[in-house]
Amino acid sequence: MSLENLARRYGTPLYVYSGGHMLSRLGMFEIAFAAVPHLVCYAVKANSTLGILQLFARRGAGFDVVSGGELERVLAVDRRAVGRTVFSGIGKTAAEMDLALRAGILQFNVESEGELELLAERAAKLRKRARIALRVNPDVFAETHPYISTGMREHKFGIDIRRARAVYRRAGKHLDPSGVSVHIGSQIRSAEPFGAAAERVANLVVELRRDGHAIRYVDAGGGLGIEYDADKPFDAQEQVRRYASALVPVVRKLGGVTLLLEPGRFLVAQAGALLTRVLYVKKNGTKNFVIVDAAMNDLIRPALYQAHHQIVPVGPGRGKRTIVADVVGPVCETGDFFARDRKLPVVAPGELLAILDTGAYGMVLASNYNSRPRAAEVLVDGRGAHVIRRRETIADLLAAERRKMPRRAPR
Ligand code: LLP
Repeated sequence: MSLENLARRYGTPLYVYSGGHMLSRLGMFEIAFAAVPHLVCYAVKANSTLGILQLFARRGAGFDVVSGGELERVLAVDRRAVGRTVFSGIGKTAAEMDLALRAGILQFNVESEGELELLAERAAKLRKRARIALRVNPDVFAETHPYISTGMREHKFGIDIRRARAVYRRAGKHLDPSGVSVHIGSQIRSAEPFGAAAERVANLVVELRRDGHAIRYVDAGGGLGIEYDADKPFDAQEQVRRYASALVPVVRKLGGVTLLLEPGRFLVAQAGALLTRVLYVKKNGTKNFVIVDAAMNDLIRPALYQAHHQIVPVGPGRGKRTIVADVVGPVCETGDFFARDRKLPVVAPGELLAILDTGAYGMVLASNYNSRPRAAEVLVDGRGAHVIRRRETIADLLAAERRKMPRRAPR
């Protein structure tokens, strides 16, 4: 599939995804975890476009949602997939609980005692019994960016694992303590912290069973990282294999549990590229700037997490000459950059660039800052290229706003 043709046909900035790549990543999970009963619950937050959810739903995947909105997305693509959906998040509202209770989700991952009480109340009101797991905070350190590390006591997530037993004891008759869940952070490259967290969870499961709770699910969360630096080798299959070998023995030893996994980034990040056209090339002092038509509103990862994304020219290139430049967008912020002091082949206005590994946490974090309509998204599969989300229009942006305010009456 020619990216240049897609860019010409659908305009830029444009997100392009490979469906085959996403499904092959899901397949790697299925193979690596084949030895234990398991369900991959794709973390919808990584990329929640309906076309992508549908791709995973058709392969039998489950979902991890963190809001009523994400649950509505799952409902919109496949009503039956809600039975394979877990609901995480520290701030669930009564309305979101009601929606999930009525839909009949697989499990609520409860993150506080207050939430436990409210959920019991809502379930009683709707005459339902909610399957719950406490999301425990295992106090495990995992090497990643501080904004996406979640598994330590000082983080806002989960319930202190040392208090968990007491909290499970408080689940009344409208709650069914069916599992334990944990999530220690995102973009974690080493298997070791996952294993350490799982061990702690397993010890808790043994205690909970002794207390009389029928624990059938261990939800190990998401967080498996990828390699963003294209110059470094990365064997995805090997990465999942190592991850699985940290979790599988722990789950096996417990027996009688289904392992739930919530990968997001690992499944979709490397299946996506953000296509953008060079608008101008300029020099300020000694610095070169390549100004492109995508901006931080389309992809905020470099600005927010100092994230590295490989940037490559899509065309044949103009020989071997290179420059060192900042690749920046049109938004009026110094933080609006995709790369700083990056060695790039010499590019000219009109040329197409691809910002790689942007399938996860790209479009979902997009905004309308500077009144920029959000990009279109194209999914490529065996049958061709499909627009799974059209480009926003200025009319879309203005639609929710009031045009005319009443004039103040003249005095
Ligand atoms: N489960 C829970 C409860 C989570 O909070 C997350 C991610 C996941 C699963 C999926 O994690 P993953 O497999 O994708 O690492 N915007 C950041 C990442 C934020 C992750 C938030 N939670 C970024 O662009 O790096």
